[in-house]
Amino acid sequence: MSELIQNRILVWDLPTRWFHWLLAASFAGAWLTSESERYSALHVMLGYTLLGLIAFRLVWGLAGTRYARFKDFAYSPARVVQYVKSLVAGKPEHYLGHNPAGALAVFLLLGLGIATGVSGWLTYNEIGGEWLEEAHELFANAMLVVVGVHIAGVVVSSFLHRENLARAMVTGYKQGGPDGSINKKRGIAALLLIAAVAGFWGLWFNGKLDSLVSGQASAQTEDGGGHRDEEDRRGRKDRHDDDD
Ligand code: HEM
Repeated sequence: MSELIQNRILVWDLPTRWFHWLLAASFAGAWLTSESERYSALHVMLGYTLLGLIAFRLVWGLAGTRYARFKDFAYSPARVVQYVKSLVAGKPEHYLGHNPAGALAVFLLLGLGIATGVSGWLTYNEIGGEWLEEAHELFANAMLVVVGVHIAGVVVSSFLHRENLARAMVTGYKQGGPDGSINKKRGIAALLLIAAVAGFWGLWFNGKLDSLVSGQASAQTEDGGGHRDEEDRRGRKDRHDDDD
């Protein structure tokens, strides 16, 4: 099949690739800062970024190019089982877009990303109780497990297909027949995505979005509410003080 044809064809458009690596970086950063009070503002910023990226991906799953669309990788459980069997037998079926097992991981990651981000936001604003904080940690840990399985799956599939799938997520190109190629990189949509993330980070670091971090806290602190102390929330200020 397509494995026999050795053309280099474009499979992942630019927005999908940028989404992927920004999501991976945001998740890694949010994970690394999750236990730190000093970097708590950075943790919150990366959580918002993760939610924003997933919101973009939900739109792109309907409006993106062929392999980015959800309908291209909405496989039935039976197809997932069939694919895993072919994988175990050492002869995995070749897919240009997401394979059925990979697709399952993608949907889990998107779902867990939303659950982790929303529960984090609610916990941070002290909406909900202790159980929500625990749910936030649980979702984040479940996401870490799925990320681990996802990366292992990418490594195993890359070896079995003799094709570097991680590189394909960077360059956009895979091996396949000319009919399989997408014909647009969608550079403008990618630029808008990057500009939105960069703009958000820029505003955040310049203190223009403090209401997302401390606005409600100030209000609550003034009337003796139960929020964490404002200074505690303003990781940036803490950091400055520590650096002095
Ligand atoms: C070094 C780390 C990683 C590598 C090498 C990697 C590699 C890949 C590759 C090769 C694909 C395409 C899979 C396919 O061909 O079907 C993919 C898709 C995906 N990965 Fe990763 N990944 C990494 C980390 C992560 C992390 C940390 C997350 C989430 C927090 C993540 C979430 C996703 C998602 C959501 C997709 C689907 C992309 C889309 O269709 O928009 N990945 N990854």
